[in-house]
Amino acid sequence: ELSFIHRYEPATDRSRPPLLLLHGTGGDENDLLGLGRMISPGSALLSPRGKILENGIPRFFRRLAEGVFDEEDVRFRANELADFFTEARKAYGLAAPIAVGFSNGANIAAAMLMLRPEALAGAALLRAMVPLSQAPDVDLAGKRVLMISGAMDPIIPAENAKRLAASLSTSGAEVQHEILPAGHNLSQTDLQLLVQWFGR
Ligand code: MLT
Repeated sequence: ELSFIHRYEPATDRSRPPLLLLHGTGGDENDLLGLGRMISPGSALLSPRGKILENGIPRFFRRLAEGVFDEEDVRFRANELADFFTEARKAYGLAAPIAVGFSNGANIAAAMLMLRPEALAGAALLRAMVPLSQAPDVDLAGKRVLMISGAMDPIIPAENAKRLAASLSTSGAEVQHEILPAGHNLSQTDLQLLVQWFGR
């Protein structure tokens, strides 16, 4: 019995990396399956539902206010999620996945890269912000990271997104950071950039 409610779709093209899909606040395990199929056709898709309920809506970790995180919970939940896919990878026979996270899902993916780098082969972080005020000393050499931010995002200050990109590349990740003339929601350009990045 795996420890998160989740959806799983097996690969139809084994040359494609498995995707770990991580929804935003108020989403669930169904939200990003369509996106996953579009950006990396044939990939196995593993999509868990966040365990935290904030006024009844799911998330991946607790926050004290919008953009103010309970960092102890961020650490606990990032480890719990990394443990889940270690189990899921065994159960389903999967290689290390690329995380694709939106908003709260991107933030937990960034935390996992920092705390459990062995769990992920890389990550696409859509509208992510700095998840931990002190970045752990971690070696991200060989991990590819695409970050796509919105210049007009009302939730994420531009400086904060840049700080996350800088911190991941200082740790050795191969970071591509794109800043779009967009807000917090995803746009057609996000999809195009994702398709290109997965095609490389
Ligand atoms: C978070 O709580 O992770 C961020 O504020 C983004 C979101 O609204 O989910």
